[in-house]
Amino acid sequence: MRYQSFSLRQKTALTWWNRSELAGYDGLICDGSVRSGKTLSMSVGFLLWSMTRFDGEQFAICGKTIEALRRNVTDLLPKWLEGIYTFQERRSENRITVTGNGRQNTYYLFGGKDESSYTLIQGMTLAGVLLDEAALMPRSFVEQALARCSVEGSKFWFNCNPAGPDHWFYTEWVKRCGEKHLLHLHFTMEDNPSLSRQVRERYERMYSGVFYDRYVRGLWVSADGLVYDGFDPARHVSDQLPETEGRCYVSVDYGTRNPTVFLLWQREKSGERWICRKEYCWDGRKRRRQKTDGEYAEDLQLFLTGYNLQTVIVDPSAASFITELRKNGLPVQAADNRVLDGIRSVSGLLREGKLLFSRECTQTIQEFRSYVWDEDAAAAGVDRPVKEHDHCMDAVRYFVSTVLMRAQARVRRRPERL
Ligand SMILES: Nc1ncnc2c1ncn2[C@@H]1O[C@H](COP(=O)(O)OP(=O)(O)OP(=O)(O)O)[C@@H](O)[C@H]1O
Ligand SMILES: [Mg+2]
Repeated sequence: MRYQSFSLRQKTALTWWNRSELAGYDGLICDGSVRSGKTLSMSVGFLLWSMTRFDGEQFAICGKTIEALRRNVTDLLPKWLEGIYTFQERRSENRITVTGNGRQNTYYLFGGKDESSYTLIQGMTLAGVLLDEAALMPRSFVEQALARCSVEGSKFWFNCNPAGPDHWFYTEWVKRCGEKHLLHLHFTMEDNPSLSRQVRERYERMYSGVFYDRYVRGLWVSADGLVYDGFDPARHVSDQLPETEGRCYVSVDYGTRNPTVFLLWQREKSGERWICRKEYCWDGRKRRRQKTDGEYAEDLQLFLTGYNLQTVIVDPSAASFITELRKNGLPVQAADNRVLDGIRSVSGLLREGKLLFSRECTQTIQEFRSYVWDEDAAAAGVDRPVKEHDHCMDAVRYFVSTVLMRAQARVRRRPERL
């Protein structure tokens, strides 16, 4: 690994445990912007500390899931510490043995969100815990992991991106770092010397609203008010649509008692925008008549007349409707329904001006103006939009997460395969 010279904050995360003025702290919290070098400097610091201070002990390295942990941390450790320590991993046992300078310690991998992790960590005796993305783990798991640290001199190492100001990790740990004897370092993208200005600016363009405040500025701010505060009819709605490519996608939010929505999407021919050309909404309650799966499938065929369909992306919970569409010979894909990731992607695309809606999509435009964050949920530390007038919003999100974001992820992965 070729390091760029470390920033001051990165140096502190690496060496605080070995500096007389800071060594008395019982742990370290690094929070702040995305891509700011928290994980790298903290993980290397954790390994240096544990391998210098202990021999023959056990440690836990935890991520949101084991998969995410491997991708972001443990698969990279041998590269990050090349020539200093030797790593031997038993993947089936989620265990890594690290050897160097005549010492050997064992590191167990846990995914806070993986069901089995909570029970597995319960019986252990640990000399230290590293929690990567601590705010994304269940509180019970984090508390259990910390309770296992009974070895003299053990320390806690946390890092995360900010969430809302009522999130338990902020109120219990970040705000109370003084009384808990924890060193708190707030990172920004400037702390990562390997980020070029262009890349930093790209990240700044990717986020808007609450996500900008959290992921770019690194602040613990609440999600309140409009979910899509960057939606601007002057910029995102038009009567005159540009010329589009032939094929289309349809995204579907399906309800038996709630409304059903279809949105039809096409790509701009000479440009990067995706156009939502038309919508279909049926509110069975308002119209006092529910439709059957068969009727909805017929309506969809009608909706598609004259268009060259690529795929229908359907609300993953609509199993019976998916079956009905397949029976009708339509290519169907279950939608990616991760709400917050989806909202973040839609906000980013709106900010970049990559989504355009036909003025005919009146229901969708209306929902953009009324789709708000749930204040009660926010007070309990949870980010969630109010589940009302959200059917077109769900269909927009399904299209963006399932078609556009997956395509972007494929493009990003390609160079690594070469
Ligand atoms: N001093 C450095 N030298 C070289 N590369 C670095 C340095 N600091 C960070 N990087 C690289 O920058 C990228 C982002 O760093 P890292 O994953 O540690 O950030 P993060 O703050 O944990 O981000 P996120 O919040 O998105 O998890 C990584 O690819 C990392 O290897
Ligand atoms: Mg990280």
